[in-house]
Amino acid sequence: MKPEDVESVGVLGGGFMGSGIAQTVILAGYKVICRDLTDEIIEKTRDTIINGRFGLKGGIERGKLTQEQMDKALAKLTLTTKVEDLGNCDVLIEAIGNGSGGELENKDTKLKVFAELDTVVKKEAVFASNTSRFTIADMAAATKRKDKFIGMHWLSPANLMKVVEIIWTADNSEETIQLIEGLCKKCSKISVRVKDVPGDTGFIGNRIFYAAGREAQKIVEQGIATPEDIETVMVLGFQWPVGPLGMRQGIRADWGQKK
Ligand SMILES: NC(=O)c1ccc[n+]([C@@H]2O[C@H](COP(=O)([O-])OP(=O)(O)OC[C@H]3O[C@@H](n4cnc5c(N)ncnc54)[C@H](O)[C@@H]3O)[C@@H](O)[C@H]2O)c1
Repeated sequence: MKPEDVESVGVLGGGFMGSGIAQTVILAGYKVICRDLTDEIIEKTRDTIINGRFGLKGGIERGKLTQEQMDKALAKLTLTTKVEDLGNCDVLIEAIGNGSGGELENKDTKLKVFAELDTVVKKEAVFASNTSRFTIADMAAATKRKDKFIGMHWLSPANLMKVVEIIWTADNSEETIQLIEGLCKKCSKISVRVKDVPGDTGFIGNRIFYAAGREAQKIVEQGIATPEDIETVMVLGFQWPVGPLGMRQGIRADWGQKK
């Protein structure tokens, strides 16, 4: 399949990332079928896409979008709780949470969900996981489409951040990688290729980000400086938009809500 052949994109999970991804993809002109677990959750997904802090209405208020573009985009959005509705999508982007003990994501849950989806979604479709850290080959192994199973790590908030890490595995065909690169381009994202390796290491961004976070924590624990001092040095001295400790808070859904 080539990028121009893609008509519909499935988004699994309508939480913080899934809603941002769905919003981006409908604005790029694709049909989106976004599936989450309950009617209540998918209504919240719709509300986030329209009224959320980074939602479509805000785009109109800031002059980035017209009402007509918003209406056209929303007409392409289907929200559902039925997994079968994903059956005919050309690309499926997974952005599910449900980690036990408050984790953002859980590998066993993803493996189970991908095994189920493999039987539901047409075999030509490409699966793309938005995992922040898990090895893509491990998840691909739960399916019979290893050549068409790839990582697509959107940064948060998905509709604002310009870059997507594409995690390619040894089993991916060049066609699969180029398909996802084409999709990123159509969504006005810059993509980079990252080689999948064993060990759930977190690709480029998270690997470096968590290393900085660990160092910041050590500095605090050793009594060298306060969290505020660390933020000050990294923001004023290195021109980071937020310091390593402040960024940790943003990773969770908090950034998704209007305060
Ligand atoms: N939040 C971030 O900064 C960030 C950044 C990049 C990647 N990610 C990854 O994206 C994924 C989702 O993160 P999030 O922040 O959107 O989490 P979230 O908790 O806001 O949303 C996850 C959603 O998945 C739904 N879900 C769980 N099981 C499902 C299933 N079987 N089918 C459909 N929906 C299901 C939940 O009901 C929930 O609405 C995680 O894997 C996470 O690691 C998160």
